[in-house]
Amino acid sequence: MKIEELFPEVNEIKDSVLREKVIRVWEYAIQKGGWEDFPLDKIPFTLLIPTKRNLVEHTRTVTRMAMAVARERDDVNMDFVIAGALLHDVAKLLEFTHNDGKVVKSEYGKRIRHPVGGAMLAEKFNLPYEIAHIIAAHSKEGEFVTRIPEAVIVHHCDFIDFHIEKGKI
Ligand SMILES: [Fe+2]
Repeated sequence: MKIEELFPEVNEIKDSVLREKVIRVWEYAIQKGGWEDFPLDKIPFTLLIPTKRNLVEHTRTVTRMAMAVARERDDVNMDFVIAGALLHDVAKLLEFTHNDGKVVKSEYGKRIRHPVGGAMLAEKFNLPYEIAHIIAAHSKEGEFVTRIPEAVIVHHCDFIDFHIEKGKI
């Protein structure tokens, strides 16, 4: 499936070079993580809680929530918000693997969490360092740096979605 169909929000990125890079990172992670023949909607967004919410749904929700917040501000780069939100969890495709149809933590994932893996993917495809920062700082790792406004937004929207899901257990 085309990444633009999986994540229609990618088309909202105005900078065409940035948009193409976001698409290429997702394509690369799908291939490198070995998910080409696995239904992406069967990948949970987290292994920390039992959830039916999948990674694509979570990523789209976080992206749309982040866009809604960014629209109310005049001090954030909307392209960075969209690109950062779409990529914040892309390295879960490396952190997780599948075994007999079950999604489990990968050997890579035991050593490199997705905020770090995702930042490395952003670097690999020459995305602006701000995107690597948004990815690297979206979770606990971000407590050790000062987040740029776009990273503050993605971080909070990510946790809104996580905490709401957690509250349903
Ligand atoms: Fe997330």
